[in-house]
Amino acid sequence: MKKILVTGALGQIGSELTGKLRAVYGADNVIATDIRSNESDVVFDGPFEILDVMDDKKMHDIVKRNKVDTIIHLAALLSATAELKPLLAWNLNMGGLVNALEVAREENCQFFTPSSIGAFGPTTPKDHTPQDTIQRPTTMYGVNKVSGELLCDYYYHKFGVDTRGLRFPGLISYVAPPGGGTTDYAVEIYYEALQKQKYTSYIGEGTYMDMMYMPDALQAIVSLMEADPAKLIHRNSFNVTAMSFEPEQVAAEIRKHIPAFTMDYQVDPARQKIADSWPNSIDPTAAKEEWGFKAEYNLENMTVDMLEKLKAKLNV
Ligand code: SER
Repeated sequence: MKKILVTGALGQIGSELTGKLRAVYGADNVIATDIRSNESDVVFDGPFEILDVMDDKKMHDIVKRNKVDTIIHLAALLSATAELKPLLAWNLNMGGLVNALEVAREENCQFFTPSSIGAFGPTTPKDHTPQDTIQRPTTMYGVNKVSGELLCDYYYHKFGVDTRGLRFPGLISYVAPPGGGTTDYAVEIYYEALQKQKYTSYIGEGTYMDMMYMPDALQAIVSLMEADPAKLIHRNSFNVTAMSFEPEQVAAEIRKHIPAFTMDYQVDPARQKIADSWPNSIDPTAAKEEWGFKAEYNLENMTVDMLEKLKAKLNV
């Protein structure tokens, strides 16, 4: 990774990954792009261009003009939004991906795009979900993710494009809110714990999902992209996770710091249905063995850091 293009750079992952890549590879060597602009570091601290990933010509032009050698393709709709607008999700998630892969093929770029625990479905083994297993998701997001994994593997085998990916769990961060995901409750709960001392969870009691703190997710992307290709048996995509919990466990952890915090439930049937179709906990052994994946944060130390950082951000 010497000259990197990031799509969806103002989204949940891009908002932080862009800064990390600029710190590691140099600000001028990371070209951030998004369909919109805003007043953030991503826009001001290095090259930034407006790019709709459906515009393949413009994407190609940016890559050529900047002599990009690595594409990090993040622009996509998350699971709950995709379920509300399935055709838009198909067009954007798959259309954007195939455009980015084509540019990578033509310009000989290394390529990363995230997959998700959403790539699994109700017939997948729910506990310690293996790296290689049944993938028959029942959501549009999941259909996009499995198709994306297959497409990225296809570009590797057919054209030799160096494609790599991670199946991310719910990502938790104090920087950019996720928006439109099923796992978003695990971010919202920290904001509302600090602002209102109470939270109403739209995900039901006893629903376990995998999660990861953003610093571990960013490090995992860099480690995978820097990994020796000779050691990679898998490519698209690796199971990665740092913790698995249900809402009550986060609430209990928050209560250690904010004793007055209370939580109740008002289950949203649409997002609950999605959550119920996903694994309880996935097995990251292949990622550990093939490129040394490890996570620094668990529920305990993530909660300490989240509350500390959010207190400063929200000024409470
Ligand atoms: N966090 C994502 C979502 O909930 C999972 O990939 O949609």
